[in-house]
Amino acid sequence: MNRIVGTGMAVPPCVVDNHLLSRCMNTSDEWIVQRTGIRERRVSPDTYRMLQRLAEAPDKAAFMKSVFADGLDGKIDSSMTVSDLALQASERALENAGLTARDVDCLVVSSTVPDFAYPHPGCVLAGRLALTSTPAICLQQGCAGFVYGLAIADQMMRGGMYRQVLVVGAELLSTIFDYTDAGRDMAVLFADGAGAAVLRAEPGPRGVLSSHLHTDGTTYEGLSGEIWGTSTYPPVSKRKFDEDRMRPRMNGRQVFVQAVRHFKEVVGECLAANGVGIGDVNRFIFHQANMRIIEAVGEGLRIPSDRLYNNVERYGNTAAASVPIALHEAREAGLVKDGDLVLLAAFGTGFSWGATLIRW
Ligand code: ACO
Repeated sequence: MNRIVGTGMAVPPCVVDNHLLSRCMNTSDEWIVQRTGIRERRVSPDTYRMLQRLAEAPDKAAFMKSVFADGLDGKIDSSMTVSDLALQASERALENAGLTARDVDCLVVSSTVPDFAYPHPGCVLAGRLALTSTPAICLQQGCAGFVYGLAIADQMMRGGMYRQVLVVGAELLSTIFDYTDAGRDMAVLFADGAGAAVLRAEPGPRGVLSSHLHTDGTTYEGLSGEIWGTSTYPPVSKRKFDEDRMRPRMNGRQVFVQAVRHFKEVVGECLAANGVGIGDVNRFIFHQANMRIIEAVGEGLRIPSDRLYNNVERYGNTAAASVPIALHEAREAGLVKDGDLVLLAAFGTGFSWGATLIRW
């Protein structure tokens, strides 16, 4: 079986609470807490600096437009990239497992917004870990990225290809949102962070029991972003920017309905495949999309609330990073113990969703 033997996480030091967002856009702490459960989130130092300036700006829309057009204070190079967070989380997971990067046979990294359009962030992370021949695979699987990554790593290990794999989810999503009224539906939800886990093949009954993955490709426009995509020619142009096609788009109600439905289905599928019921699972660690989605799934499946680990209140939705961050925190808090049944589940852009059951 393939067991998680180390976890780690990293978030930027800059904390943005709902009150700061309320000074940038027409929203309130009450609205955000009631609809999402989020009280604060971590963002890159660049986003933080921008938000402080936006809060003071008399014309928010004009200021935000100037940032997208010219950068902040005439500077467009980032002070933090997604691989900075991926590296920190990976180093912590490796240390936690008592390993160095060279002990790992493969990296599986998931990220929505990479450092570069190419090579992918798994490659950049490998370089920053000073790895010169370890294969690095990258998934752009949105919020389901870590669950997909774990499943792929587990299957490669079951096939005997690798013995130790580092699985990472890392995001720097705050850098792509419009924090004025125009983008408020998404900007209050998403944030930055990274989480990582080391999977090791070991004899015995502990480890990943099964993974179940799905994608509905017909719904991809429900949560999408064109940014540098080839949906336009050329991929990045002034016109794309002027026509507001750089900004991520979300159909909030569709996401909500589909997320609740598919979370419930895939959890049921995962439990049935292993011949166990809700009551047998010691800890449910769901993608921290927003508290209302998690509560609706929990209520629908009759999951006792003390078996759900949630931290969306402190970090917001960190997409591919949210499951490994929550897993790491739950483990650190002693909420995941040897022999426990732990169920991970996620849903995100695509829509793609999946679940994994682990005997810890
Ligand atoms: N602050 C204040 N008002 C806002 C904000 C905001 N940040 N964002 C949107 N609104 C407004 C809308 O403009 C709309 O106004 P209108 O009625 O004048 O058109 C109104 O709020 C919508 O209000 P409600 O209908 O009460 O909101 P709803 O209950 O639909 O909640 C929400 C909206 C929170 C986006 C909900 O649809 C939702 O949770 N969707 C899921 C989105 C999600 O979690 N995405 C995560 C990404 S995918 C994933 O990780 C699974």
